[in-house]
Amino acid sequence: MDSPFDVLHLDPDADDEAVKQAYRRRVKEAHPDHGGSKAEFQRVRAAYEAIKAGETLPESWPEPEVEQATEPEDQDPLVEYLDYEVLADNGWELTDEDLFEKAAAANLDGEDYGQFRVEERDTLLEAAEEHGFTWPFSCRGGACANCAVAVVEGDLSLPVSHVLPSEMTDRGIRLSCVGEPITDDLKVVYNVKHLPALDELRLPPGPYEWASDD
Ligand code: FES
Repeated sequence: MDSPFDVLHLDPDADDEAVKQAYRRRVKEAHPDHGGSKAEFQRVRAAYEAIKAGETLPESWPEPEVEQATEPEDQDPLVEYLDYEVLADNGWELTDEDLFEKAAAANLDGEDYGQFRVEERDTLLEAAEEHGFTWPFSCRGGACANCAVAVVEGDLSLPVSHVLPSEMTDRGIRLSCVGEPITDDLKVVYNVKHLPALDELRLPPGPYEWASDD
């Protein structure tokens, strides 16, 4: 069985920064949108969590069948999330005032609706991945709209340099790959990349990755 360091393609004496950089690189490679698979994605995430927890021997980190997120701090921002595809399936609108109440009552799968906390200095996308979710992305740097979310309540930071037009940011559209919570509670609809004004800003995951790796 590989050790967590093997899974992240790291030497066992790698420092914290090297571990984080390797995790970001490997989680991209393993993402189903980028030619990986959900199982590989979960394995990379589990390896990262094991290293953070100091469980670095192969036998000390049996791969989890269900998601085991790190214990959140109660004071960390709490995100309630909903998949945009659920809106289409149910005839709901982003502007519905009771959108999240309807979602809470709909007995949705945990991939589609739920809550998680975002640890300090994590972006929303990183936090989603650390909780085992495969939210869409491409560049991870603010240059496309693949990772866009609609913020219904609360807010996410938005760097000065990003691709979104002001009419989208005015409507609460943010980029999960670079956005960190700036309120204690948020409600976000993720997977909004197919909204009309965002569709043309999207990048195909594979070719963009290959081009940016050149
Ligand atoms: S993945 Fe491209 S802006 Fe977030």
